Order: sequence, then C-alpha cells, then structure tokens
Amino acid sequence: MREAKRGRSVVISLVDIYTRWDQFLGPLYALLSERTPEQSISHKRMPTMAQHTEFVGSRPYLHWYEILADGKSVGAIYLSKQREIGVSIFIHQQRKGYARAAVLELMRLHPGKFFANVNPKNEASIKLWESLGFNLLQVTYESPVHRS
Ligand SMILES: CC(C)(COP(=O)(O)OP(=O)(O)OC[C@H]1O[C@@H](n2cnc3c(N)ncnc32)[C@H](O)[C@@H]1OP(=O)(O)O)[C@@H](O)C(=O)NCCC(=O)NCCS
Repeated sequence: MREAKRGRSVVISLVDIYTRWDQFLGPLYALLSERTPEQSISHKRMPTMAQHTEFVGSRPYLHWYEILADGKSVGAIYLSKQREIGVSIFIHQQRKGYARAAVLELMRLHPGKFFANVNPKNEASIKLWESLGFNLLQVTYESPVHRS
C-alpha cells in the first residue's frame, strides 16, 4: 500500500499476526514496553511474557497485523470485534506516516464503520484520528475501585 506523505511515498504492508503468532511475540512485547500510561487505555501495567503469550494466543482481536516498511517491522495494528482500531509504531519509526498508511490499509481491507478509543492525554493519537476524519463521539469516565 502506497501513500503520499509530504511529497514522499510511504509504502507499508500488513502481515497477519495470527498465521504465525508465536513469531510475533517478541516484536509485540517490545512495542508494548515502549508505551507510557498516557498512551494506553487497556494496559496500566506491563504484563509478564507469559501473560502476553496467553493474550496473543487467545486471538483477542478480529484482525491483528504487523506493519512492515522496507521489510522491517515498524509497528502493529488491530481491528477489534467491536470495530475499534488500535495502532502502535515503534518510537524510532514515528512521524514517518506509517500509522496513517496502516490505518488506511486496514480500512481498505475491512470496509465499514470504525472506532478508536483514546486516552485524552495522548495528543499524537488524537491528532492522528482527527487527521483521518474521525469525529469525537463520547468521553468515558472510570471510577476508582469501590469496596463494600
Ligand atoms: C499515535 C501513533 C500511532 C502515531 O504513529 P505515527 O506513525 O508517528 O503517525 P503518522 O506519522 O502516520 O502521523 C499521522 C498524523 O498523526 C498526527 N501525529 C502523529 N504523531 C504526532 C505527534 N507526536 N504529535 C502531534 N501529532 C501527531 C499528525 O497529524 C500526523 O500527520 P503529519 O505528520 O502530517 O502532521 C504513535 O505515536 C504511537 O505508536 N504511539 C504509541 C501508541 C499509541 O498511543 N497508539 C494509539 C492508541 S490507538
């Protein structure tokens, strides 16, 4: 898939993680370890490798792809069963247009309506979705845990 970014061409391809998921455990774990609490809404704490292996093996998403550019892994993208998109790009590969190109390719492969859940402190992610024409739908609050 080819996309223009400031006169430069961004070429990425998506590789299905579920076909060889054990090979992707390392890169996916490395991606997760780069995340800060502001970037994550699903993980507050880094899982162990065993927890991560169980999670990936449970096929939690409808589709899950590694993002390749120039034959190298630059990140990962998924589409959940509720049609939510999640995308992560390795820090040293950010701001090169890879997330935008990967989202456009995912939407081309699985046409329909899409959603994205974002931590309100995650400015990069908010800008990404807005630049792709996504509209703000709702703000969800979470309570502290209440014990009786
Ligand atoms: C959010 C994230 C996926 C963006 O990936 P990326 O490959 O750097 O994004 P792109 O280069 O495709 O940028 C597309 C647009 O997003 C916006 N954007 C991306 N990073 C940004 C940043 N750090 N600050 C402001 N805007 C940003 C810009 O509008 C950008 O377009 P532009 O470069 O023409 O201005 C990346 O920062 C990331 O992996 N963060 C950690 C994981 C995460 O937070 N994922 C989002 C949860 S779904």
